This record gives sequence, C-alpha cells and structure tokens, in this order.
Amino acid sequence: MEVVIQPNASAAADLVAQIIARELRANPRAVLGLATGGTMESVYDRLVRLHRETGLDFSGCRTFNLDEYIGLSGNHLNSYRHYMNQHLFRQVNIDLRHTHLPDGVAVDLEKECADYERLITQAGGIDLQLLGIGRNGHLGFNEPLSAFRSRTRISTLSPETIEQNAGLFGGPENMPRRAITMGVGTILDGRRCVLLATGPDKAAILAQAVEGPITSMISATALQLHPHCTVIADEAAGSRLKKADYYRTIFNHDPKWEKFRQPADNFSFYQPSSLPEMIK
Ligand code: GLP
Repeated sequence: MEVVIQPNASAAADLVAQIIARELRANPRAVLGLATGGTMESVYDRLVRLHRETGLDFSGCRTFNLDEYIGLSGNHLNSYRHYMNQHLFRQVNIDLRHTHLPDGVAVDLEKECADYERLITQAGGIDLQLLGIGRNGHLGFNEPLSAFRSRTRISTLSPETIEQNAGLFGGPENMPRRAITMGVGTILDGRRCVLLATGPDKAAILAQAVEGPITSMISATALQLHPHCTVIADEAAGSRLKKADYYRTIFNHDPKWEKFRQPADNFSFYQPSSLPEMIK
C-alpha cells in the first residue's frame, strides 16, 4: 500500500483525477471501477473539466460502479445511477451502454449479482478501482464482517451507514435497507485500487484501515493485502496516521511520484496553464 497526504481536499482530488486521466491516456479502453459519495464529486468535476479542456477521451472506456440501493430505479434522485449520470456520464463522451451499475430493481436480485460478476470478467477485469470509505470502514456497501473473498451480492446496511447516508433521503425512515455491492473479493481483484478520503470525519477510520490490524470488521483493511493500492488523503483525513512523515518522504522522493508532485502554493487545478504539464 502507498499513502499520499495532500495539503487539502482539492489537491487530493486533483491527484486522483490525474491518476485516472493517465490511466485513460495510457489505455483508452481501460475498465474503470467507480464509486459514489460526496467525496467523489470533486474527482468527477475534475474529470469533466479535463474532458472539456484537454479532450480527455472516455469513448473507449467501460465502467463498473461498486454498488446500488435495492428498490431504487435509475431514475430515482438518490440512486447511484442517477448520481453517476449527473456527475460524470452525461458530461463526458462515454457511451452510456458501456457504463454499468447493479440494477436495484431487478426482478431476480441473485441473478443480477451473478450477472454483474460475469460482466466484469467478460470486460477483462477492472484496471483501476476508485474507492471512498464509509465512516465504519466500508468499501462500496461491504459492511462489517464482509468476507474478504466475497463477490457481488446483496448487503444489509449497517446502522452507521444508515445514519451516515440518511440525510440525502430526508431521514432514515426513507432509506433503503439493502443494496447490491461488489464484494471485497471483487474489489481486491482490480489491478489497481485508489482510495480517496478527505475531511476530519474520516481521520479515525482511515488510520485503522491503513495502519490497523487486518480484520473483516473493517472492510477497508483488506486493501493492505492488495498488491497495488494507493490511498490519497488530505491533511485532515490523514491527521491520525502514525507514519504520516514517512509517507510524505516517500511522495517527495520516490521518482515514480515525480510527475505528480506540485508545490502546494502554486498548484491549482483550475489554472489552465497547469493542465498540459499535469497530464503528460
Ligand atoms: C456510500 C458508498 C461508499 C462511499 C461512502 C462514502 O456509503 N456506498 O462507496 O465510500 O458512501 O461517502 P462520502 O464520500 O459521502 O463520505
């Protein structure tokens, strides 16, 4: 696992967008695993901007999202399909037929889960899996005690997750209680994982996920087993990491990060002049 601590949430999102943009430029037919949640909105903003300003091309890529609420159709304002259409898919030149989320209103939910796994395999597997983290350490909707070898399946949301996401539904009583989620095993099969965590609310769980013992009580600890996982945090989310100084040293000295290093005080994603350099 590698950990990068960026000075603020904006710089952290910039770095994630750069990593995805590089992946797409190197492999225009990349299979991207995508995530939802408030944290990801700034990443998608930046990808849309890269598409508009530098022609970042999504026409050949295919995407698979982590999860979807059971009982919500793609037209529902709180469905993750709606979120993805709004924040990314309708803003870039992706073929909507190449974008996949589990169908939360499928008649046969078990079949939907098995079909989703099959589609990922048929696409050649996921090249880069983007991840957020829930306050209980969930990835997608892999709640505590999710087996590390679990595959796409139905998950019952934990009380912490209901509390965390209820605001978007106008209260917990309106929230679905179940979801379809890629399994921890599905996520670990991705060739690269990139987890973004920002803000003080994520500090405690991020420290447990990165530096704590591996346990199925905290799904994100499974990422410690992944051969190529990058965790990107802002200072607030990284504030409880015991080895933060060491992670900074690596980022500042390892040649592989050279193209991504920008002095914090003169780096702004929104400076058009910085874009050509950024995406080399
Ligand atoms: C939801 C999603 C997760 C995401 C989490 C974090 O629960 N199922 O995949 O990581 O939200 O959301 P936020 O970024 O809003 O904190």
